[in-house]
Amino acid sequence: MNTLKIIVFFIFFSHINTLFSQKNNIIPTPVEQTIKSGYMEIENSPEIIADFELNSAATLFKDAVKKLELANDKQTKNRIIFSLNKKLKYEEYILKINSDKITIEASTKTGAIYGFQSLNQLMNINFKNEVIKLQNQVIKDSPKFKYRGMHLDVGRHMYPVDFIKKYIDGLAMLKFNNFHWHLTEDQGWRIEIEKYPELNNVGSFRDSTLIGHYTDKPWQFDKTRYGGFYTKKEIKEVVRYAEDRGINVIPEIEMPGHSQAAVSSYPELGCTGEQVGVAPLWGVFKEIYCSKNETFDFLEDIIDEVVELFPGKYIHIGGDEAPKTNWKACGNCQDVIKREGLKDEHELQSYFITRMEQYINSKGKQIIGWDEILEGGLAPNATVMSWRGISGGLEAAKMNHEVIMTPNATCYLDHYQAKDTTNEPLAIGGYTPIEEIYNYEPIPDELDESLHKYIIGAQGNVWTEYMKTSDHVEYMVFPRIFALSEVVWAENKPSFEEFEKKVIDVYPILDKMDVNYSKHLERLE
Ligand code: ACM
Ligand code: ZN
Repeated sequence: MNTLKIIVFFIFFSHINTLFSQKNNIIPTPVEQTIKSGYMEIENSPEIIADFELNSAATLFKDAVKKLELANDKQTKNRIIFSLNKKLKYEEYILKINSDKITIEASTKTGAIYGFQSLNQLMNINFKNEVIKLQNQVIKDSPKFKYRGMHLDVGRHMYPVDFIKKYIDGLAMLKFNNFHWHLTEDQGWRIEIEKYPELNNVGSFRDSTLIGHYTDKPWQFDKTRYGGFYTKKEIKEVVRYAEDRGINVIPEIEMPGHSQAAVSSYPELGCTGEQVGVAPLWGVFKEIYCSKNETFDFLEDIIDEVVELFPGKYIHIGGDEAPKTNWKACGNCQDVIKREGLKDEHELQSYFITRMEQYINSKGKQIIGWDEILEGGLAPNATVMSWRGISGGLEAAKMNHEVIMTPNATCYLDHYQAKDTTNEPLAIGGYTPIEEIYNYEPIPDELDESLHKYIIGAQGNVWTEYMKTSDHVEYMVFPRIFALSEVVWAENKPSFEEFEKKVIDVYPILDKMDVNYSKHLERLE
């Protein structure tokens, strides 16, 4: 190599080196990220300029800078501008980092929040010795799917409000926009209802809980009272907290099944009128709501109180795993079948859901139900959550209904994440490694292209039978939630190997958030 070549070679590589010396990874992967030369340093109190509509994003930025405790030894001010650009789509944003200023453009508060989230990841991974040095760049970004959800079951085990907020922080960081809060179960009723106080006095507490796994026989119980519920004040606080981070909260009020806690509070809501207890065991129970008019009066009252708390458009009505045993033997239920000219108990379930849908629609809301709501006829305006595989989703899309994909094989985060479970905390079963989630494609190959629009997104579900603590929830969710965020947001996911590196890069953010993530990816290294 002659001298000239060496000089050219050196200049070329030192330039590349300058360009890429800061960390630029963002999860989920933005649509377009153009790295430029030069840097911007963020100081302790940058000047923040925000259009009124984008104030919540500006507030998040201000709080994030405060949390980082930056050095304040420079006199020069740099600026961050949140600027309304009505030409952008609903959730789209443009983030520009220039040596003297950062601009986030969006047409909505939500878009601006996503711009902030990308910036915040860059700030946190480039925070060193009390200084943040960011590579100049331009990011243009918008999501692949309009529904990006994460679920949390608080029926089996419940967690403090502070944890619910921390969970929402995790969702927000990864640009999820729906938190599906599973609030009622056989094992506990977790939402305050004023008109029916026994739901909280009785239904929110169980006397005992199964020890170990369901398959460990004979069953043993801890004989310890367990429970509680979220007050309306707490729920409003959570909804507000989520809203400030661009997240809609979807309450799930299960019907007609998974309702033993409600039936134990008001035995007249069941078919037999027998007093049952709040379930101490996991599983599917036959103590479901009776289809008589009194049940609908009760559920409509519940909905009246629920819609006051949750401003979003969806109410999830469950609809899954409702054994028809009691309905078959119940005079009241059989009378409804005759009166309405129904064929069988599946059509009765469809009648039940459709009647509740009409009521919920009359309140200006839409229902979501698990895919069992297809059985016996789908309620006319329902969105279907396809959990028993993808066939329910396919069927609903073919009927021109919107679908949220959450097939248990790929989207259930209560499954084991390691093949060798020796050192894993007890889980329900299954095996869903992060790679499998990463490779998931919510739109099934076999779905005709004209129907793709009905698949509005996907969701991760976190059923908590075996998750007594919030630490355990975090272990199951992180980092698999990173993979799901790529699935629902990124138009062009990088290879899994690149993704792994990105995840390890952002682990310090989880450390700062004090998240108990699983270390499987590090073990793979
Ligand atoms: C479900 O997992 N039962 C929806
Ligand atoms: Zn009945």
